Amino acid sequence: MSFKIADQAPARMNRSELAVPGSNPVFLEKAAKAPADVVFLDLEDSVAPDDKPQARKNIIDALNDLDWSGKTVSLRINGLDTHYMYRDVVEVVEGAGDKLDLIMIPKVGNASDVYAVDMLVTQIEDAKGFKNRIGFEHIIETAAGMQNMAEIAAASPRNESLHFGVADYAASTKARTTGIGGPHPDYYVLTDPDAEGNREVHWGDMWHYAISKMVVCARANGLRPIDGPFGDFRDADGYIAQAKRAAVLGCEGKWAIHPSQIALANDVYSPSKEEIGKAKRILAAMKQAQKEGRGAVALDGRLIDLASIRQADVMVKKARQIAKADKAANK
Ligand code: GLV
Ligand code: MG
Repeated sequence: MSFKIADQAPARMNRSELAVPGSNPVFLEKAAKAPADVVFLDLEDSVAPDDKPQARKNIIDALNDLDWSGKTVSLRINGLDTHYMYRDVVEVVEGAGDKLDLIMIPKVGNASDVYAVDMLVTQIEDAKGFKNRIGFEHIIETAAGMQNMAEIAAASPRNESLHFGVADYAASTKARTTGIGGPHPDYYVLTDPDAEGNREVHWGDMWHYAISKMVVCARANGLRPIDGPFGDFRDADGYIAQAKRAAVLGCEGKWAIHPSQIALANDVYSPSKEEIGKAKRILAAMKQAQKEGRGAVALDGRLIDLASIRQADVMVKKARQIAKADKAANK
């Protein structure tokens, strides 16, 4: 371990993150009751240019009038390359910043983008005398954002999470796909021919590098890595497969662009009973070994060392956090 230990973002449940267009008051009302851990109220791509002023008003009203208890609420502002962004921040933070947990910055390209929003938010919070400090979520969805991800992740103490915005990322890198998330049939390898000359097609995961890099940059800076959208909301199996791949790599949650995806994300990103049971047995076995003055132990025929204990500890702590949040939500 390095001598410098990264500060950890405030502990928040982030298994599912529901996207809601700010232009639709009915959806905003439904979102407040949805079982998502985080809801982001959108002013960016789901809102048409002419609707942005009204969407800001809807969001201010929704923040002030609806009951958001039990969940984290975020605001997706427009990108810094647009003239909407400053009004998004000024109007919504002035109007309801004390009810807002997070601001999501789309298409972030470098640390200066983060600095600019930080400066604006800090001035408004100071002027209004808000006691809360709004955190930042960053969508990595441009080639520049991917290139500069490490500096973005370290750019502000407000930073809490990095998100992979697969749709805009594909557009920015000119990737040859029009789907939103998931694999592509052209991204495959062929096995060598067998004796009869047959070859198998094995699909690969074209997003592997992007998600892995995001996990590294997020974790190195104490942030949560979150996988972004999966467009075909009728394809639950496809969503689950994508969510599982990201979870295995270290992601902590995934967006839901449709309410039906919330339960899928909550399920994939909650450790299973078996996983929790195994983690607890690892911790118990290690405790016993320490008592007996042994350094390493075997469990179920496999060696457990200090790294396995750290993994088990993360799993058990996460399970406790989920149980606590679920209990609070069911009250
Ligand atoms: C999300 O904003 C995306 O572009 O995928
Ligand atoms: Mg996007």
